Amino acid sequence: MERATAKKRIEKLREEIRRHDHLYYVLDKPEISDEAYDKLYKELETLENKYPELVSSDSPTQRIGGEPLKAFKTVTHKTPLLSIDNVNSQEDLVDFDRRVREGLGKAKIEYVAELKIDGLAVSLIYKKGKFAQGSTRGDGVHGEDITHNLRTVKAIPLSIKGNEDIEVRGEVYLPYDEFVKLNEARKEKDEAIFANPRNAAAGSVRQLDPKETAARPLNIFVYTGVIPKLKKHYEVLEHLKKLGFKVNPNIKVCDGIGEIWKYIQHWEKKREALPYEIDGIVVKVNDLAAQAKLGYTARAPRWETAFKYPPIQAVSIIEDISVQVGRTGAITPVAQLKPVHLAGVMVKRATLHNEGEIRRKGIKIKDHVKVQRAGEVIPEVVEVIKGKRTGHEKEFIMPKTCPVCGAKIFRPEDEAIARCTNISCPAQVMGRVIHFTTREAMDMEHVGPALVSQLIENGYVKDAADLYTLTKEDIMKLERMADKSAQNIIDSIKASLDRPFDRLLYALGIRLVGKRTAQLIADYFHDIDELAKASADELSKIREIGPKIAESIVNFFRAKENQGFIEKLKKAGVRVRGYEVRGMGPLKGKTFVFTGGLKHYTRPEAEEIVRKLGGSASGSVSKRTDYVVAGTEPGSKYEKAKELGVEILMEDEFVKLISKHKYRVETGD
Ligand code: IVH
Repeated sequence: MERATAKKRIEKLREEIRRHDHLYYVLDKPEISDEAYDKLYKELETLENKYPELVSSDSPTQRIGGEPLKAFKTVTHKTPLLSIDNVNSQEDLVDFDRRVREGLGKAKIEYVAELKIDGLAVSLIYKKGKFAQGSTRGDGVHGEDITHNLRTVKAIPLSIKGNEDIEVRGEVYLPYDEFVKLNEARKEKDEAIFANPRNAAAGSVRQLDPKETAARPLNIFVYTGVIPKLKKHYEVLEHLKKLGFKVNPNIKVCDGIGEIWKYIQHWEKKREALPYEIDGIVVKVNDLAAQAKLGYTARAPRWETAFKYPPIQAVSIIEDISVQVGRTGAITPVAQLKPVHLAGVMVKRATLHNEGEIRRKGIKIKDHVKVQRAGEVIPEVVEVIKGKRTGHEKEFIMPKTCPVCGAKIFRPEDEAIARCTNISCPAQVMGRVIHFTTREAMDMEHVGPALVSQLIENGYVKDAADLYTLTKEDIMKLERMADKSAQNIIDSIKASLDRPFDRLLYALGIRLVGKRTAQLIADYFHDIDELAKASADELSKIREIGPKIAESIVNFFRAKENQGFIEKLKKAGVRVRGYEVRGMGPLKGKTFVFTGGLKHYTRPEAEEIVRKLGGSASGSVSKRTDYVVAGTEPGSKYEKAKELGVEILMEDEFVKLISKHKYRVETGD
């Protein structure tokens, strides 16, 4: 085919494919078979391969493009993405309506009611009709640039009708069926499963490699945009639909708060039948001039509110109650349920927390119970349906000994939790090692519970520090282990050596030290030895750390086994000190490159200072470098900086820059 003919054909194919994408992903009304679609797509791909110069970034073939990113860029939103106020009852809702009516001096208000999709807020910017930038809400003012990932969301058009420059906002979500599939695949691969579709969606858009995101079919509903000349919010939504965006079909204009209440009640009953999760209803004043008149409080708009639904519940029967032994020895009774559908997923177990809870709720084996999803992966039992009792229910008796190791179970009088008293209990060891590897701790991506259990059973691992001395050969000896998987495991263990200090502190599994406490400690103590020496008094000086936590920390470091464990971690090369002010320092986002000899510092020292102040240090100069610091006899990096117009600092200027900041930096003078 001639080039000119090819060009025409390519354009025709793109238009066709875009139309079918829109029909399929946005309108849910496909017109052609998958085979017919694939044929069009293949033809386009073939032609674009033949004429690569004709490929354009908004071609349907270019959704997954480019290499994985190293990190996300920060973007500043043009107008902040505020959150909205919540109401939980009809009373509060009526109150909201009263404030709106008073603010506008009107007897009745026209509202728009929308489903509140439980996903992740994003902003999409189009320049001249082409998708140019997508970002997360972040803290509302700054978000992360996730353009490369949002391009893979098929319901997001890469180009829109007309050549407009617009920003739209919406909710990216993962439908229930995709959420279940994703979790099943993760379980298979021994990766941590997501607690709910929202977490799964958030994890998916925060992938550095767009191929990963593309493998998880995210979806979107767009719920707002700035369109000049339109007068009503509902008209904006209609216009967005015309431009090719996916707008939720269940949006309704309501005359007065009474109709809103009906809509809320209607969807509370119907929400379980939706293929995606909603956690409430958003109510917005329809008239845009009225919105502007009402304006904003410091936190949120006065013209909209969210009615939050209580969690979805299901009824099932407790077939039996067993106990689980956690990493701290905590014995948790777990209800084995007759499988039941709950908010899109099949539930077979629910936590009963502890013995006291069982007594308080009056739970017995064979009881009919209501269950709901808690913050955790495993749901909880809310209450017994006493009316369904037959008299055959049985009381649960807490075992006296650990079901795993047989040691005594002990519950201190003032505590709710009973514990296995043997710290070498295999269940505890396993729990500790697994905790150490999890995403929020040392984040060893390819090391999951099943692998840890194999490693412990085969005697390779007795504590988490042993993971670092594993060799690929060791791992290859495990059952059904392929070369590539073994390498991935080794790589992900190695990658964890340099995790931030607070992650290590959390990973240690010190009782009462959660993620937040670990961060507070890491802000205060510079390294693990300093912390290990600290007294309870000194620890209590840290904001939010009370005497109980302080005592638990002191006890942890006093125990001989733990001291040995920490020595092993150090020997393995695990980072046991802080290196940055968690992205909050005055040099946040700034990249430095050093060249030549420095008078005041060694190179690693200078780099460490930059990191402590929130910046980063790199070995090579690029356009993204902010400063090149030149010492004596600077090398080629100096030339490169000049060539690229990167700012060059002499050592003295660098010292001046860093000493401006609140951290005292020793200059050695
Ligand atoms: S309007 C960025 N409308 O609920 C604030 N929000 O605090 C936009 N959400 O995370 C508020 N569905 O992303 C609006 N139809 C809808 C929504 C919706 C879900 C999310 C939103 C934000 C939270 C509100």
